[in-house]
Amino acid sequence: MRIGLLTGGGDVPGLNAAIRAVVKHGMSYGHTIVGFRNGWRGVVEGDVHDLTRSDVRNVLPLGGTMLGTARFHPHRTEGGLEAVCSTLEAEKVEALVCIGGDGTMHAAHKVAETGVRIVGIPKTIDNDVWGTDRSIGFDTAVSVATEAVDRIHTTAESHNRVMIVEVMGRHAGWIAVTAGIAGGAEIVLTPEEPFDIEQVVKRLQHRHRAHASFSIVVVAEGAVPAEGTAMEYTTQVGKFGEIIAGAIGERVKREIAERTGFDTRVTVLGHVQRGGTPTAADRILGSRFGVAAVDALSEGRSAVMTAVRGEEVVLVPMAELAGKTKPVPPDLLRIANVLV
Ligand code: F6P
Repeated sequence: MRIGLLTGGGDVPGLNAAIRAVVKHGMSYGHTIVGFRNGWRGVVEGDVHDLTRSDVRNVLPLGGTMLGTARFHPHRTEGGLEAVCSTLEAEKVEALVCIGGDGTMHAAHKVAETGVRIVGIPKTIDNDVWGTDRSIGFDTAVSVATEAVDRIHTTAESHNRVMIVEVMGRHAGWIAVTAGIAGGAEIVLTPEEPFDIEQVVKRLQHRHRAHASFSIVVVAEGAVPAEGTAMEYTTQVGKFGEIIAGAIGERVKREIAERTGFDTRVTVLGHVQRGGTPTAADRILGSRFGVAAVDALSEGRSAVMTAVRGEEVVLVPMAELAGKTKPVPPDLLRIANVLV
């Protein structure tokens, strides 16, 4: 079988592990693997090249994606789906492995509905793809964010400051909650639980009166104030729904500084969370998903996404993902905010 491979949406550490696994495992089945450059855009434009074992040598520890990526949706582009089908026909590609987040999976499902055989692999540092416990990239992002919170801790304490740390997470606060717990943040603000700035301020004032002279507040970029509370704010987004980095962090900093008089600073971690060497966990997850995707295609499966549930890798029908994201469960949200 001639299998096409693409990575779409924002990059994450661990993508190259998945690419390597698809190429190596695919070749051991006797399949030919070709890579499309820059996600769905490469399929539409016919930007494709063969991938062999030598292409994936030494890529395991490398961040980013050796195939390039783009935020591009063929089903929302005039003639996009037709162009995908004609490239696949011209290149004699019989099946696709699409590695991406919810946008890439949605596009993959649309393409699968035209009769193309497709298996998806979930990746996003946000960890909000529905149907899987983990997505490639999340573990690395959490360890980068945790290290940042640790580093900010020492300077916060030295200067008796309130430090705001803004992390990624558009629709879900997975990075904020896990790095907040691991790094010992006092307050964590997430999209799942809209906040009341007056309550945030009260908790900080109480802590600073009772037993501390510094605090760390981790804010997910998609955090919003609760309706009817003292702070009015509209999330600022770009062309593809990506959140304008720094906006909520800066605003929370200003509110806290003005309402408390505490010396307050903000750090926006931004794309640092998406770059660099993947952790062992992300390399392993990428490798497991790559192998599972090739096995699935070889068994004739289509329109499914690889997923991890507990210790097991399973296949989830793409139809079940439509319109869903995976929020942080209440017990984790609670732990993030009770250890003040
Ligand atoms: O979807 C993953 C993500 O990292 C989000 O957390 C963030 O809002 C977005 O990508 C940033 O997108 P871009 O790289 O296009 O700025």
